[in-house]
Amino acid sequence: MRSRDATPVPPPIERALVHPQVDRVFIGRLVREFYGRVRHDARLGPIFAEAIQGDWEPHLEKMTDFWCAVILKDGSYQGRPVPAHLKLKTVVPEDFAVWLGIFQETVDDLCEPEVATVFVERAQRIARSLQLAMFFRLPAAGIEADRSSKAGELPPAR
Ligand code: HEM
Repeated sequence: MRSRDATPVPPPIERALVHPQVDRVFIGRLVREFYGRVRHDARLGPIFAEAIQGDWEPHLEKMTDFWCAVILKDGSYQGRPVPAHLKLKTVVPEDFAVWLGIFQETVDDLCEPEVATVFVERAQRIARSLQLAMFFRLPAAGIEADRSSKAGELPPAR
């Protein structure tokens, strides 16, 4: 018999967006417009220029695959975003707000409002998990307690 407590709670299922505006051709246009703007941004432009030297077309096709997988759920992207971002040593957490701001402006300009909402919500979710992977470190548990008390005792209450 399975205990109710042991039953894992599945994450909410994200469904494919079905909308007459949205197909691979549209997503390809959106991706190109977004990275066109990113490349002109004073903060993000140089980060991308350093990472992607020469032909941008492979990156734009990869990002079209990525967004088709995220929005249409068509499985076209098989890559691993986290290691690609861990390599970027000059990125700081605040850069994500800049990235998301440009993304929001681009989808607002190109998408119908109900489509824009889906793109932005999914971008925000992925941005959060990328930021956790890049910047979140657990504090070294117990170090404070060891410094301020004898081993095994709690630090004095303030
Ligand atoms: C400050 C924010 C960000 C910066 C500076 C950034 C920068 C970059 C750069 C420079 C690359 C190319 C890496 C390479 O080819 O060596 C890349 C790849 C990629 N980025 Fe970002 N990114 C950011 C946020 C995001 C967000 C929020 C998403 C998703 C919503 C995303 C999705 C991806 C994906 C899927 C790739 C391709 C990874 C692969 O090689 O398979 N990025 N990013």
